[in-house]
Amino acid sequence: MSKQRALSGIQTSGTLHLGNYLGALRRFVELQDTYDTYYFLADLHSITAPQDPESLRLNITNVAATYIGCGLDPQRATLFRQSDVAAHAELGWILTTLTTMGELRRMTQFKDKSGTAKEESVGVGLFTYPSLMAADILLYQPEVVPVGADQKQHVELTRDLAERFNNRFGETFVIPKPLIAEEGARIMGLDDPTKKMSKSAASEYNYISLIDSPDEIAKKIRKAVTDSGEKIELSDDKPAIKNLLTIYALLQDRMPAEVTEEFLGKGYGDFKNALTEVILEALGPIRDRIMELTDDPAEVNRILRDGAERAEAQATKTLASVKQRMGLA
Ligand code: TRP
Repeated sequence: MSKQRALSGIQTSGTLHLGNYLGALRRFVELQDTYDTYYFLADLHSITAPQDPESLRLNITNVAATYIGCGLDPQRATLFRQSDVAAHAELGWILTTLTTMGELRRMTQFKDKSGTAKEESVGVGLFTYPSLMAADILLYQPEVVPVGADQKQHVELTRDLAERFNNRFGETFVIPKPLIAEEGARIMGLDDPTKKMSKSAASEYNYISLIDSPDEIAKKIRKAVTDSGEKIELSDDKPAIKNLLTIYALLQDRMPAEVTEEFLGKGYGDFKNALTEVILEALGPIRDRIMELTDDPAEVNRILRDGAERAEAQATKTLASVKQRMGLA
């Protein structure tokens, strides 16, 4: 039996961190063994917020280098950038014409991102972003879309649009299922364990970037907030320690309860030292590989061009049948 297909994308808007690694990238890498995988850099999505051209270009190389640094094998997985495959923009437009204002207005990410800004000044791209995301997915006919819980609503809209198209124009699209990461994979900020780890946090002590030096990592773990009391225990009343235990356990592929036992009777200091070691050991080789690749942007571009060629072959086929069915060809 041929493998099922999995597809996901990641925005190119900055350095990726330990939370991205444990929550998404690591899973993307695991999936390449069991699925036919397509992963892309969502650069057309990242321009829904203003981007400086020079930084955007650098971020694209960095995010691609990070995917590969985390273990993605561009021979097995198809790694490409969205804007290299024109069919995304084209199908994006077609699906926009099938989407209603009501559907887009219900998207919680739009509500969050547009925040308190007046509707008059919110970019239309931010509003229609989910129709483009639907195109990203449907072009490749994947059975599953691995994403964080925050993207589930977008994948559900994608399913609705696929069904709508199929009903109106005949069976065309595979209806994809979201593959949502478990709750344990949600890593919280080191300076505030009540919010998700985020590269846009006010303080750099919130996150560990995948290219932080060993000294920076040690310092960030030393400064990480802890809870009152002194026991290393797994409890919802101790969100800071729970988060650190989760990081430790995930990096070692163990259960947090097991790690807790190991530190029975030990203090925060001992635990933090051990955690620093575990992080350094896991991120060291990843960082080296990322640095090697960011020093060689020509090689990264070559990999992305090769991926785009393979992606394009799939995408043009789907787009051609869409146009045929709609009477556009
Ligand atoms: N919207 C996703 C995010 O912000 C990124 C994305 C764009 C994506 N297109 C996609 C994810 C298609 C999965 C499939 O994380």
